[in-house]
Amino acid sequence: MSAGEDRSLSRLSRSIDGKVALITGAASGMGRATAHLLADLGASVAVTDIDESGVQAVAEQIREHGRSADWWRLDVGDADLIEKVVGSVVERCGGIDILVNNAGVALGAPIDAETYETVWERAFQIMLTGQVRLIRAVLPHLEAAGGGRIVNVASTEGLGASRRMSPYTAAKHGVVGLTRSLAVELGGRGVTVNCVCPGPIHTGMTSVIPDEHKERFARRKVPIGRYGDPEEVAHVIASVVLPASSYLNGAIIPVDGGMTAKSD
Ligand code: NAI
Repeated sequence: MSAGEDRSLSRLSRSIDGKVALITGAASGMGRATAHLLADLGASVAVTDIDESGVQAVAEQIREHGRSADWWRLDVGDADLIEKVVGSVVERCGGIDILVNNAGVALGAPIDAETYETVWERAFQIMLTGQVRLIRAVLPHLEAAGGGRIVNVASTEGLGASRRMSPYTAAKHGVVGLTRSLAVELGGRGVTVNCVCPGPIHTGMTSVIPDEHKERFARRKVPIGRYGDPEEVAHVIASVVLPASSYLNGAIIPVDGGMTAKSD
């Protein structure tokens, strides 16, 4: 064997073993699936959610599988709590390498609804300001770790629009803008910022939609012909946070079965 034959042909790592990942909205749906997957891939997951018993159950389930997880109750609309929880995660886990800004609620209203402004404010507080605050709190730790990764979960509503959803849609468009802007600002500081835009996915959020509506919608709109599963989105998030994804920055990635590509 000549010198070099034992060397692998590729250099970049596809392992997140030992990394610390903070995930918001991790008690259900895509957040929970992402927590399970990142833990399975060897990361220590800091799972957070406004739903305390739900997020505790997720952490316990991950630990039962012999993986590493801690949980915190975190309402991403609460600025003080964000600071406290991030401090506590760093103390307990020794740092943060990955932030998955996932928490969200389906907050829509017709433009002339009496409650419109309240819905608008809540949508922005949770889905846009919450993401900004998490990023600001976590950033020093991502920089200290080197190779930090931020994934913001937006939606296909961040790329197009549905009727009577303008608070949600505007907030998700904001997430796309935030991602691009911070990718430009932070790329040179060793932190990548990317955005995943799920299409229709079977989660807590869509569980209120009757099955026949879901099937009709998917047949009409989604080339793959069905709703997605949370794990299918989690795998895309997991790919984005790999050390090997070091040149992916400012990307807005639809995970929608081809829905936004379709024009017929
Ligand atoms: P889900 O309802 O299953 O999970 C959302 C989680 O966020 C829940 O555990 C909930 O308790 C938590 N949450 C809500 N408000 C919170 C707050 N103030 N602070 C902390 N946690 C809070 O929904 P899903 O679908 O998994 O949602 C995840 C993300 O994906 C959201 O940002 C959502 O907008 C987005 N999304 C969902 C789509 C879908 O079809 N399900 C499509 C596109 C985007």
